[in-house]
Amino acid sequence: MAASSSEYSRVTPELEALAQICRANNQINKDDYARFEVKRGLRDLDGTGVRAGLTEISEIVSFKNEDGQKVPCEGELYYRGYPVEELAGGFIKDSRFGFEETAYLLMFGQLPTKAQLRDFNAQLAFYRSLPTNFVRDVILKAPSQDMMNTLARCVLTMASYDEHTDDTSLANVIRQCIDLIAIFPLISVYAYQAYNHYKNGCSLYIHAPRPELSTAENILSLLRPDEKYTPLEAHILDLCLVLHAEHGGGNNSTFTTHVVTSSGTDTYSCMAAALASLKGPRHGGANIKVVQMLDDMQFSLPDWSDEDAIRDYLAGCLEGERFDHSGLIYGMGHAVYSISDPRAKLLKSFVGQLAEEKGMQKEFKLYSAVERLAPQVIAEKRKIYKGVSANVDFYSGFVYRMLGLPVELYTPIFAVARVAGWSAHRMEELINMGKIIRPAYIAVQPHRDYKSLAERG
Ligand code: COA
Repeated sequence: MAASSSEYSRVTPELEALAQICRANNQINKDDYARFEVKRGLRDLDGTGVRAGLTEISEIVSFKNEDGQKVPCEGELYYRGYPVEELAGGFIKDSRFGFEETAYLLMFGQLPTKAQLRDFNAQLAFYRSLPTNFVRDVILKAPSQDMMNTLARCVLTMASYDEHTDDTSLANVIRQCIDLIAIFPLISVYAYQAYNHYKNGCSLYIHAPRPELSTAENILSLLRPDEKYTPLEAHILDLCLVLHAEHGGGNNSTFTTHVVTSSGTDTYSCMAAALASLKGPRHGGANIKVVQMLDDMQFSLPDWSDEDAIRDYLAGCLEGERFDHSGLIYGMGHAVYSISDPRAKLLKSFVGQLAEEKGMQKEFKLYSAVERLAPQVIAEKRKIYKGVSANVDFYSGFVYRMLGLPVELYTPIFAVARVAGWSAHRMEELINMGKIIRPAYIAVQPHRDYKSLAERG
């Protein structure tokens, strides 16, 4: 008889015993990392990533060189050589949506002309549908509380609908990438609707995408029962997509894209691997934590304007006494940025407007106070080498909350944006294909004399 899901999911004492054996036999001496000069996490001792590749897709600047000295500076982010603020300024000034144009820029390396953008939007609209019965057979059949897993499963399943899955010629990969950029919003939202219906007992909404709408507008209309949204809501979500679309070659999911592409595998497998990476709480999941931490703070503090109480709460987080006891203040700090994260700055400039539209100015004031006070509190309690400031997740979580997006969709929305960057990097790897990525691991296990089963007792 087949095991029930609760039986299947149970960790038995036998498994605990195996875990103990496993742990005991996998204790690598920490000093060996230094002895063999292994760069753990592919980082130098000062936290800087080791050089693993070259890219023209984007650049992150957090230090300037002044008289031979590395000096922390305001963060800068360039997509294909253009400062992200200028790109955003361009489409915001014209009240256009920017994500599609940004995806084109990242993937093809130049800003589109009006005709190129029109054609690209038409292609996205053409591909923005799922194969017949895919929603019924793949998405609704096995709903999961984890939309990232559903997304990865659906991406892999898409391979069986493609007659040229394994063809890695550039034009075919471009077709597959545009298709995935177009359908990620559909799969993510439908996966949430299925979960919300089957697990939470809510009504099931499967709205059709509308070809004339941007990616951001489609997300909002697919999600909401009445399909309605305001222009400000759609434009802020569009900006969030632009700001999450790309972040260099070294971030975990993009590096995964390079690693997997270098083996010659197909686009679906590559994107499923990138999704698996992004899903990790050390990568794509911080914005959920920010919102939960601020919720906890609002619940715990009787007066949200009492800055001493806010400081005490934040210090409590660092001491591991508050919120999730991790010792972290979420939404603060970044592995690369120092004085500021340009994405957070840009996003903040619109968050106030949205807070006003939603009547959430009081929450916005609290977020602003935390943004100001947290770096001071962290600096008092930790050794700061390069400065700590609010990162993009600090405000993106708040924006998603104000837009009424369910937390289950926060990381999938990140994926909806980042698949554009992954596509660009897959193509860059394919065009400049060098060797298969294959770093060295030093074997530190001493050789042993084999014992037969009888001798082992
Ligand atoms: N909360 C608590 N401590 C923090 C912190 C935060 N938000 N940000 C930095 N620090 C600590 C670091 O742990 C480090 O202390 P340590 O040397 O005792 O370990 C010190 O301040 C200096 O950190 P720094 O070198 O600037 O950054 P890092 O590369 O060590 O850490 C992060 C970068 C992103 C892992 C870290 O800032 C963090 O965990 N932030 C919270 C989670 C988050 O918002 N992630 C989203 C990133 S986009």
